[in-house]
Formats: sequence, structure tokens, C-alpha cells
Amino acid sequence: MGSKHRLLPWIESVLQEYSFTSVLDAFSGSGCVAYLFKTMGKRVHANDFLRFAADFSRAAVENSSERLTPQDVEFLTSLAPRPRRFVQETFRGIFFDETDRLFIDTLWSHLNRLSAPKQSLALSALYRACLKKQPRGVFTVSGPGRYDDGRRDLRLSLQDHYIESVEVFNDLVFDNGEPNRATCGDVFSLEPTPHDLVYLDPPYVPRADDNCYIKRYHFLEGLSSYWQGVELHPTSKVRKIRKRYTPFSYRREADTAFERMFKQFQTSTIVLSYSSNGYPDIERLVELLSQFKMKITVHSEEHRYHFGTHPAVSRARTVVTEYLVVGE
Ligand SMILES: C[S@@+](CC[C@H](N)C(=O)[O-])C[C@H]1O[C@@H](n2cnc3c(N)ncnc32)[C@H](O)[C@@H]1O
Repeated sequence: MGSKHRLLPWIESVLQEYSFTSVLDAFSGSGCVAYLFKTMGKRVHANDFLRFAADFSRAAVENSSERLTPQDVEFLTSLAPRPRRFVQETFRGIFFDETDRLFIDTLWSHLNRLSAPKQSLALSALYRACLKKQPRGVFTVSGPGRYDDGRRDLRLSLQDHYIESVEVFNDLVFDNGEPNRATCGDVFSLEPTPHDLVYLDPPYVPRADDNCYIKRYHFLEGLSSYWQGVELHPTSKVRKIRKRYTPFSYRREADTAFERMFKQFQTSTIVLSYSSNGYPDIERLVELLSQFKMKITVHSEEHRYHFGTHPAVSRARTVVTEYLVVGE
């Protein structure tokens, strides 16, 4: 949700006109923009307040050399002497079949025997496998329901998805010669380290629906810590965890949050990713950024969003204008 992966060629074409060596992606999400910066030879710091999002960047941005070997995969998927049981018990009848749930518990039972970069790779591959196997790629409702159309992604076992996903993540690993890093924290608690450029892609208050990442991805966020220290929502049918507060989700708070964030990063070139369907509107954001920056350039691109993950499901299409607002 909110991933910029389809816009990467455009983002690259705009940002390669600017001169910068170090960059902070403060809301890294899937990690694809931080990874783009890595491929551009930059020194990258990726950050997100969700743990599973930070794992993606640890695996593909921070990690420059380690890959999961066939022996690692064999070890991770081998039956553990005393496998954990949380997923099997908590999500019975809610997500995945018995074999898939046992597979998740088994993998987690072995995980801490790997190095930290390998753990992030193993978890990223597991998140991808879970997203692929889950109808529509979200965890809002239990069971396949009307989306079970027999397609390959739903038929394949989680373990087979996992093996494919390990290959995907292994292929991403490379060294760009820079000490890149990934952190998990709130944007407002980030140290004001001097990055040449700060890329900001916060969630925006949508005009319809909500922008709650936890509602859609709670299972992955719980999985990232094996539900250690997180509270399950007492009445949730899908065993959701509590959502994390962010001021960017609320109309009455978003304006102040943007202003505070622009102030925080005012010594860097600020690049804000934004869409025409967000609140506040682009004019207001330019006004807020102008308080801290002399020169503002708004780059824009029309973008077609598709909703739905399968051609058989009728797809809603919305055209929005995507902006990159650059303050120097
Ligand atoms: C629009 S998404 C970023 C998408 C990302 N650029 C990509 O292409 O995948 C917004 C991200 O901001 C994160 N987020 C929301 N509030 C945050 C906060 N206060 N501090 C840090 N991260 C936050 C969410 O977890 C989410 O991953």
C-alpha cells in the first residue's frame, strides 16, 4: 500500500538532476525508493516505524554482502525439535492452512541462529510469501472467501512461495560501497544528522477510506517480532494488533505534522512525495515548505492506480497526479 515502485523510473529521472551524496528515506515502507537511492550510489539511511518495513530495508539496503545459502534455507525449513506454536494456535481458522502455519512457526523457531542480515532476509522472504498466499495481499478478512479463484499464488504452499521469495531477495543484495543503514523508529525521533537530501513519503490522509497500515498488514507486523511485546486487539476476529499512532492519519493533525517535519529537516534538501488525492492539498504543502526553503520546485506526473490483484477481478482505476516537491 502506497508503494512507489511503479514510479521509480520517474523518481530517478527527477532526482538525478540534484546533487547529493547522502540521503534519508524517512518513511521507507517497502524499501523500494531507498533501494533506488542505493543503486544510484548514494549513502542511504532508510527508516520506518513499522518493524516489518524496516526488515525489508535491512535486507536489501543495509545488507551489502550476505545471502541465504541453500543450507540456510534447508535449516530454516527443517522440523524444529520443539517448534513454536503461536501461529498454529492463534490463527487457526483465520489465516493459512495447518501446514502453512506450522511452516511459519518452524521458521521462527530457527531464526535466531542466523546472523542479523540473514534474519532480515529470511523475514523479508517470509513476508513476501505470506502476502502472495493471502488473497488480495492484505490481512483484513479471514479465509480466501470469494477471492479463491484457484490461481497459482493461492495454490502454492507457503514453503514454495518462501523458496521463490528467498531467490528474489538474494538477487537484490549488492554493495554500492557505502555504509547504508536501516532503522525502525518514528520520524520525529530521528537524529537531525546532516543528510544532503531527505526524501519524505508519509501516509496521507485519504479523501475516502483510511490509510491504516496495521489494519491491512497487522499479521506481518506481529510476525516481525513473533508477537513479542505487542498487544492483540481484544475484539478483533482476525487477531489484529493495536495500530500505531501517526499524526499523518488525521485531518486535524496533518498540517502541524508536516510543518514540524519540514522544520526538523530544514538543513537538507527536502523532497516530498505526494498525490493529488491527499490532504492537505499541494498548495498548502508548498506554503508550509516555503517557510523553511527559498526555492521550491514542483515536479508532477500522472499516474494510474489499479486496485485488485487479479485480472478476473474487475479493477478500479483512478488517475491521480503524483508530485515530487523539492525544497532547496
Ligand atoms: C506511503 S508509505 C511509504 C512507501 C514507500 N515510499 C514505498 O515506496 O514503499 C508510508 C510509510 O510511512 C510509515 N510511517 C507512518 N507514520 C510514520 C512515522 N510517524 N514515522 C515513521 N514512519 C511512519 C508507514 O509505516 C509506511 O510504511
